[in-house]
Amino acid sequence: MTAIPSITLNDGVEIPQLGFGVWQVPPADVKVATQIAIEVGYRHIDTAEMYGNEVGVGEAVRESGLDRSEIFVTSKLNNGFHDPAQAMVAFEQSLSDLNIGYLDLFLIHWPMPLNGDFVATWKALEAMKATGKVRSIGVSNFLIHHLERVLAESDTVPSVNQIEVHPYLTQEPLRAFNTEHSIVTEAWSPLASGKIIGDAAISAIADRIGKSVAQVTLRWHLQRGDIIFPKSVTRSRIQENIEIFDFELAEADMLAISALNRDERTGPNPDDIN
Ligand SMILES: NC(=O)c1ccc[n+]([C@@H]2O[C@H](COP(=O)([O-])OP(=O)(O)OC[C@H]3O[C@@H](n4cnc5c(N)ncnc54)[C@H](OP(=O)(O)O)[C@@H]3O)[C@@H](O)[C@H]2O)c1
Repeated sequence: MTAIPSITLNDGVEIPQLGFGVWQVPPADVKVATQIAIEVGYRHIDTAEMYGNEVGVGEAVRESGLDRSEIFVTSKLNNGFHDPAQAMVAFEQSLSDLNIGYLDLFLIHWPMPLNGDFVATWKALEAMKATGKVRSIGVSNFLIHHLERVLAESDTVPSVNQIEVHPYLTQEPLRAFNTEHSIVTEAWSPLASGKIIGDAAISAIADRIGKSVAQVTLRWHLQRGDIIFPKSVTRSRIQENIEIFDFELAEADMLAISALNRDERTGPNPDDIN
């Protein structure tokens, strides 16, 4: 089975650098997809209350036969629950739906700056961590000016910032800011939600080294040091996406892929979502 490297977060918690994402996996399918992922060697699952599929993820984890400590599970606070009291209720709901005892990582899903105070919400996550029911806390979709407020106005540096990153949106300034502040970048939609698969430049590299476009793209993320969790409901692709630890991209290929950046989001700008 493939050895997946771990990254140590700023609170000492270790997280596998490759995980399995379940956004847009229907609740009826998520248990089987997660079971396939665990069977082929994934040990990190990225879900969210917003995805509506925590129950099935929890079933797959519980029935895996693995010790709970062997699987890293992330969930996220849904957008309508930023008020600190409601955030605690939503956290307990995620714990109850997953039913796996504790969470490894809990994130504020979006900063929602037009709709309340994300620093107050962040302090609610600090209180969640103090309960011992979550090992690590972080944020998602935070821009530099959001992070600056969290860093200035609270006691805890987020362990991760989960943001959209792929070859068409390389996010250099935000990734550099994360690194400067000991915040690990998690790259969501690492395949640009599948759009990258038709890319001619990556395809040429993939053909030359005998790998798929998905494998080359995921390897590019790994060599940049980001955490990734590609999504697939297709067994062969779930398997393909974990087979990225037996080759290395040359520096010239890394640079060529980074040069594809066109600051193109597949999702919304975090300042606009309300
Ligand atoms: N924090 C946030 O706001 C946020 C937002 C978006 C996503 N995320 C996280 O990031 C995860 C991944 O992002 P994502 O789901 O948008 O997209 P992604 O992983 O970038 O791409 C998934 C798409 O690519 C296809 N695909 C996967 N592997 C492939 C392969 N080897 N060859 C060809 N096609 C392949 C999948 O198809 P099939 O499934 O049909 O095989 C699916 O259509 C999510 O599941 C979620 O955990 C977080």
